[in-house]
Amino acid sequence: MRKRALTGIKPTGTPHVGNYVGAIRPALALTSKYDAYYFIADYHALTTVTDPVELTQLTYEVAAAWLAMGLDLNEVTLYRQSDVPEVFELSWILGCVAPKGLMNRAHAYKAIVAEAERQGRRGVDATVNMGLYGYPVLMAADIILMSSDVVPVGQDQAQHVEIARDLAEKFNFIFGDVLTVPQVSIRPTAATILGRDGRKMSKSFGNVLPLFAESDELLATIRRFKTDSTAPDEPKEPESTGLFQIYREIASPGETEKVKDALEGGRMSWMGLKDVTFELLDHFLVEPRQRYRDLMSDPGQIRRILLEGAEKARPEAVDLLARVRTSIGREDYER
Ligand code: ADP
Ligand code: TRP
Repeated sequence: MRKRALTGIKPTGTPHVGNYVGAIRPALALTSKYDAYYFIADYHALTTVTDPVELTQLTYEVAAAWLAMGLDLNEVTLYRQSDVPEVFELSWILGCVAPKGLMNRAHAYKAIVAEAERQGRRGVDATVNMGLYGYPVLMAADIILMSSDVVPVGQDQAQHVEIARDLAEKFNFIFGDVLTVPQVSIRPTAATILGRDGRKMSKSFGNVLPLFAESDELLATIRRFKTDSTAPDEPKEPESTGLFQIYREIASPGETEKVKDALEGGRMSWMGLKDVTFELLDHFLVEPRQRYRDLMSDPGQIRRILLEGAEKARPEAVDLLARVRTSIGREDYER
């Protein structure tokens, strides 16, 4: 049987180039070898997005991004998390084998605690909801429900996949060998793409290069990327900016080598890098942008695609859940 790849993106903002080169592109590269299940984690977004219109809109944007960037519906089952409600039952069951201390160490929660401490605030109980605190358990359920073997993600999600492994192993230890223990898959050269301000490119930092920006906005955002003060004819460190990381993922190895040599040899200025990156991306995105616009003008079509995906994913989910229910003592469960 073919092994399974699964990944999710939460609809908390417009997709950016970091999402594409860090997660979407590596995930699409796996589809020739793996059975692929890619989904929109809408209930994960609910920890922060509380406007219903926005949640729907962003869900469609993430779905359209996958499709516009080349997802082939004959190869991938694309669905919306909440259309496969079995995941929430599994999430509860996994929560019952999840040590509370593991959640305390999960990085999203830890970052909020650290920030509160930095600001001299006492505790985070008033600002952290249980959804955010238990976020890694639902993510583990997403992964485990589809018996996933590999999970392509960016570096920031590695710890969450590790937690999914821990919970699968713990469950298997207690209840028998029922769950597949997943493995993370990270593309080393795109593990953490840096944003405009030099920090990780992230919707929550407002430092992103939007994937479907029109040419003028793309150029303006690229121009605003922070670079160090190295003079145009001095040797530069290509890795110090997200622009080179992005360039390398899209350009051919030959083109990348030339740009790297020119930067390191003081023969290309940062402005020069900005120009070549814009040219490359702008050209690369011509067709995806058009596909994205077409899809977003027909939300009914996106909804249908997501529902069809859920119809394919659900029998798999029901099957795994049946085995889980039996193993924990639901002997009366009939399929
Ligand atoms: P964000 O941090 O912008 O909210 P998400 O958490 O929705 O992004 O991430 C969706 C996917 O994109 C995940 O697999 C994540 O690891 C990947 N990803 C996000 N930002 C980056 C980045 N800057 N570099 C590499 N991968 C990224
Ligand atoms: N937590 C992931 C993120 O913030 C999104 C996600 C939810 C996910 N469930 C998943 C990723 C399962 C991989 C597998 O990007």
